Amino acid sequence: MQVEGKNFRTVWMEKNSVLMIDQNQLPFQFRIHAAKDHLETCAAIRSMIIRGAGAIGSAAGFAMAQAFLEAPEKNQLEFLTAAKQTIESTRPTARNLFYATDLVYSHALQASNPTQKAVAIAQEIADKDVEDSLKIGKFGNQLIPANAGILTHCNAGWLAFTDFGTALSPLYLAQQQNKKIFVYVNETRPRAQGAKLTAWELHNAGIPHAVIADNAAAYFMQQGKIDLVITGADRIAANGDTANKIGTLEKAICAREFGIPFYVAAPTSTFDLHCRTSADIQIEERDQQEVLFQTGLSKNGKIEEVMMASPGSSAFNPAFDVTPAKYISGIITEKGIIKASKTEISRICK
Ligand code: MRU
Repeated sequence: MQVEGKNFRTVWMEKNSVLMIDQNQLPFQFRIHAAKDHLETCAAIRSMIIRGAGAIGSAAGFAMAQAFLEAPEKNQLEFLTAAKQTIESTRPTARNLFYATDLVYSHALQASNPTQKAVAIAQEIADKDVEDSLKIGKFGNQLIPANAGILTHCNAGWLAFTDFGTALSPLYLAQQQNKKIFVYVNETRPRAQGAKLTAWELHNAGIPHAVIADNAAAYFMQQGKIDLVITGADRIAANGDTANKIGTLEKAICAREFGIPFYVAAPTSTFDLHCRTSADIQIEERDQQEVLFQTGLSKNGKIEEVMMASPGSSAFNPAFDVTPAKYISGIITEKGIIKASKTEISRICK
């Protein structure tokens, strides 16, 4: 993706460091964060300097590669096993994190030069994430008619992946083909990934859009403004139940009520066949401070955190919810568009 005329990926590796766009500073400042070792990369994933399914996957793969670079000769296996566990504990719902960590760990340990192999596999995972996003864009674009009003939730754009993204990738292509789309961007409380990140991406790409309050989606659906909904996914169970950012479920239920197609866009690396249904998906609970406080730009140009709730009140902060497969019109993958069903999912994941 281009930012001020320069090409960027969301995350990449340089020597022993993992570099990433600092998403906690966007849209107000464009900064690159450097994580010098695997523990710093874990801290960046946990604090959401880097976030979004595919981007977390790439960062986790690179973190595992960093651990191989750091591992002492004595007790190498112990060190690597502990590092793997630390990486996996950062964001429990994000399937790509486990996918990438496992792949780097298992392939590298079998290689004659484990460290070299770990770095190579982590790089392959990041490159594949970019390829998959491009393919998802092509398939998803086929669903978008001219002049479509499209609703999206959270950020499943290039910042959420290594590049291009999933839910937003088809929109970039539709825009290039001059389909004259308009995007309704759910603000996505509590962290406002829609208002801050999706809106920033769409603005950079010159795509007409407006941020709407999280509780406004049903209104715009009822007004006939929304032709389809496209969201990303953080983990998809074998039966098609899909975990995505908190608030996705109610958008899916509303879409069904108004007869609007509801699509999920995700690479097959987000499917988890070990989860049979939603009941097996662990939902991350984050700090209540994210609900009670908001960060923004003050009138005097400073990034400030302000309290949003009554002092002394506590908050609940589940980061994701699960949309049952029955509400999903289709899943846009890098291999094509499939039904959210056990049969189609097991076929495509072979
Ligand atoms: O908590 P986040 O920002 O890491 O959430 C992940 C997401 O970006 C969304 O749920 C998204 O729609 C999934 S696809 C990247």
